[in-house]
Amino acid sequence: MSTPQSTVRRLAPIPEGELATFTFDGSRLHGRTGEPVAVALLAAGVRVFRTMPESGEPRGGFCFSGRCADCLMIVDGVSGVRACMTPLREGIVVETQHGHGRPIPGDLE
Ligand code: FES
Repeated sequence: MSTPQSTVRRLAPIPEGELATFTFDGSRLHGRTGEPVAVALLAAGVRVFRTMPESGEPRGGFCFSGRCADCLMIVDGVSGVRACMTPLREGIVVETQHGHGRPIPGDLE
């Protein structure tokens, strides 16, 4: 039985000087500065961006154009950020969003 292969890969290496190191759930990953966070995650083999509030089902992006909610993640401590619309930059901290994510400090809930 063969091992499943990733269906996502970069077509070209990241040009020198455009490499960005970022953190995903505590792991250091690399991507290209300015590309969507979702693209950098897919290229790194990440398939789950969030889990649904009620069912806990995993979601890994759907439209990749900012029109759905399947790529909502916690970015630099802020919940509900669309990974497909967020440009990657050096040092950005990305986390899987479980359910509704973290409450906003000072928000009444
Ligand atoms: S994948 Fe649909 S908004 Fe990001």
